[in-house]
Amino acid sequence: MSREQIFTLPIALSQGATLPLSKPTTDAQQPIPLIDLVAQHRTIEQEVMEAVAKVFAEQKFILGEEVSELECEIAKYCDSREAIGCASGTDALLLSLMALDIGPGDEVITSPYTFFATGSSITRLGAKPVFVDIDPVSFNLAPAAVEAAFTPRTKAIMPVHLFGQCAEMEPLWRLAARTGVAIVEDACQAIGAEYQRRRAGVLGTVGCFSFFPTKNLGGAGDGGMITTDDADLARRLRRLRVHGDSGGYEHLEVGLNSRLDALQAAVLRVKLRYLDHWTMARQRNARRYASMFHEYGLLDVVTLPASLPDRRHVYNQYCVRIADGRRDEVLKFLKSQQIGCAVYYPKPLHVQTCFANLGYQAGQLPHSEQAAAETLALPIFSELTDVQQERIVRTIAESFGRTPRRSAQSTLPRPKFLSAGVRLSVVPRDPFVID
Ligand SMILES: Cc1ncc(COP(=O)(O)O)c(C=O)c1O
Repeated sequence: MSREQIFTLPIALSQGATLPLSKPTTDAQQPIPLIDLVAQHRTIEQEVMEAVAKVFAEQKFILGEEVSELECEIAKYCDSREAIGCASGTDALLLSLMALDIGPGDEVITSPYTFFATGSSITRLGAKPVFVDIDPVSFNLAPAAVEAAFTPRTKAIMPVHLFGQCAEMEPLWRLAARTGVAIVEDACQAIGAEYQRRRAGVLGTVGCFSFFPTKNLGGAGDGGMITTDDADLARRLRRLRVHGDSGGYEHLEVGLNSRLDALQAAVLRVKLRYLDHWTMARQRNARRYASMFHEYGLLDVVTLPASLPDRRHVYNQYCVRIADGRRDEVLKFLKSQQIGCAVYYPKPLHVQTCFANLGYQAGQLPHSEQAAAETLALPIFSELTDVQQERIVRTIAESFGRTPRRSAQSTLPRPKFLSAGVRLSVVPRDPFVID
């Protein structure tokens, strides 16, 4: 992209232009990373560096105008009344639970199939995480299991919108409305995701986001945000992030030091302008995987992630399932071929050593344990090309000992040598078709 294009891009995008992504990698031997942040940065480098330079020129590094502007923009993006920046997604969860007065003796129902911070934020405050099983299709909390685990000590439900798809929220709202408990959305992987046309972050009492660099909206380090429609809660959250200081060193309670840096906010404000275009590219990549796995005849051994009705899945991760104990072989083979992939998450929280005191046994939450044994995250980042995706799917086919074959109805681009005007008698064999 030229310098002029970089400067005019946000305007062009707002007028409906599509985002030019980085140039495809043509070298078949090039490693394919699980996420290519360098490729993304190249497309917005000039704008990011200018935003960072502005912060250095002003020398206002903590909170301040950049952070409040970002808070307004995130509130608008999520359609929440308030947004409160903080130091990380973990702190967003912790601060939210603190603002809801959750502590010793309280129970919070949540998923065991998630990143560690979901559970640790609860125990950090002396409350008890109550892990219940997931729905095996969505990987998110199973509402019936939440209902069954409810006790008079339950003070909150913490659904996780895992991999970028919202949990089944309506039954949870109904339960929360009936019982008066709070819902803390762990939306750390799900900025821009929707459920029944409402954005993640406004589907509960508070929504928690992470700006960890690999998130769909990732900063240049750690960062987090809390969204809420509750003005009192927002006021308390703003106080809790600055040691409970109500202003003038008047500490009304003990809070945290959890402020968002102006540098992070400046970078995130630039990236937020591109978020929907990157999300659309991730969704396109998911569709492309679906047709490639189909064309390679792999759907008997690989289960693709479900995109449920009434949702906007933003694909922070694209996790397939590979059953029958074969996931790890495939992972090893992909890595040997320099293709990035990872397991999110190999050990559910209820069987983690640090939670042994909670008394869960292996086998108790079978859907979560099976997901941990079978899922494999494949590259889904916005700049991923169809050539790279085809290599990923072909390599998976090879790892199953299958000779790659495309169906006659393939809608994928054909190799150039098969294009019109080339005499068939001199066309070399299509490398994808076997006799
Ligand atoms: C589901 C989930 N919850 C919480 C977090 C914690 O966010 P952070 O790493 O910003 O503290 C993450 C980030 O990895 C996450 O994916």
